[in-house]
Amino acid sequence: MQRTEPPIGVFDSGVGGLTVLRALRERLPGESFLYLGDTARLPYGTKSAETVCRYAEQAASILVDHGVKALVIACNTASSVALEHLRRRFAPLPVFGVIEPGAEAAVAASRRGEILVIATEGTVRGGAYERAIRALRPAAAVISTPCPLFVALAEEGWVEGPIAEAIARRYLEPILAGRPEIDALVLGCTHFPVLHRAIGAVTGPDVTLVDSAATTAAVVAASVEEGLLRPSRAVSREIRFLATDAPQRFARVGAVFLGEAIAPTAVELVDL
Ligand code: DGL
Repeated sequence: MQRTEPPIGVFDSGVGGLTVLRALRERLPGESFLYLGDTARLPYGTKSAETVCRYAEQAASILVDHGVKALVIACNTASSVALEHLRRRFAPLPVFGVIEPGAEAAVAASRRGEILVIATEGTVRGGAYERAIRALRPAAAVISTPCPLFVALAEEGWVEGPIAEAIARRYLEPILAGRPEIDALVLGCTHFPVLHRAIGAVTGPDVTLVDSAATTAAVVAASVEEGLLRPSRAVSREIRFLATDAPQRFARVGAVFLGEAIAPTAVELVDL
C-alpha cells in the first residue's frame, strides 16, 4: 500500500481558513491536507482585487510546488477575485472556491429570498456573492455589508460576550431593522463562523446563519466520490501547515478556528 499520497492544498490569508480545513477534514477523513496561511500579508480583505489576485497566485504556487492534487481557496476575498484566474493558471488542477458553495447554502436556507451577506470590504466590493446567489435564484434580494472589525475580534479570540455582541449590533441592527424580511445571513468571510453566537444573538432565531465551510467541503468530497479527484489510499493521513509569518502565533490563534490544538512545531515558516 502507498504510504504517501498527494495532499489537498488549502490556502487563506491567515488562520481563518482553518474553519474550512476543519470541515474538509470532517468530510474527508482519509485525505491529507497542506494548509498555507499568508499571515505576513493578512488582511486581503482591504486590498485591491489586483493585489489579492497576485497574492493568491503566489500562495497557490507554493502549494502546487509541494505537489498538491487539488487546491481549495478557503479565503472568501481571494475566491471572489482570483478563482477563474487560478483555474486557468493551474489547469488541469482542480481549484475550488468558497463563494458558490456559500451561495448555495444561502439559497437553500432562505424561504423568502431576502439574504444578507456580511464579508470583507474586498468581497463586498466585488459583488461575487450577489452574482452567485442570483445565478441560483434570480429573484433573490441580496444586501451586502462589510464587517471588518469582526476579523480583528476573531483574531483576538473575543468571539463571544458583550464586546462581540455590541459590534455585531452596530453593524447589523440598522440593516435588519430596515429589512425585516431577511431570513438568511451569509458569513462570507473565513473569520466570521467563530462569531456565530454573537451574531446570532443580534439576528435572532428567524435568521439562519450560513457559511461556506461545510458546503465547500461537500463540493470537494463530491469530486472525490465522483472520481474526479483521486481518493487517498495512504495508510495514514497527514495535516501540515505553512505560514508566511509568525508560526507560533499561527498555532496559537489557529487553534480557535481549527477547533483543536496546533503544535507550534507543526507550522513551517515559508516565504512566497
Ligand atoms: N480570509 C479573508 C476572507 O475570507 C478574511 C481575512 C482577510 O481580510 O484577509 O475574506
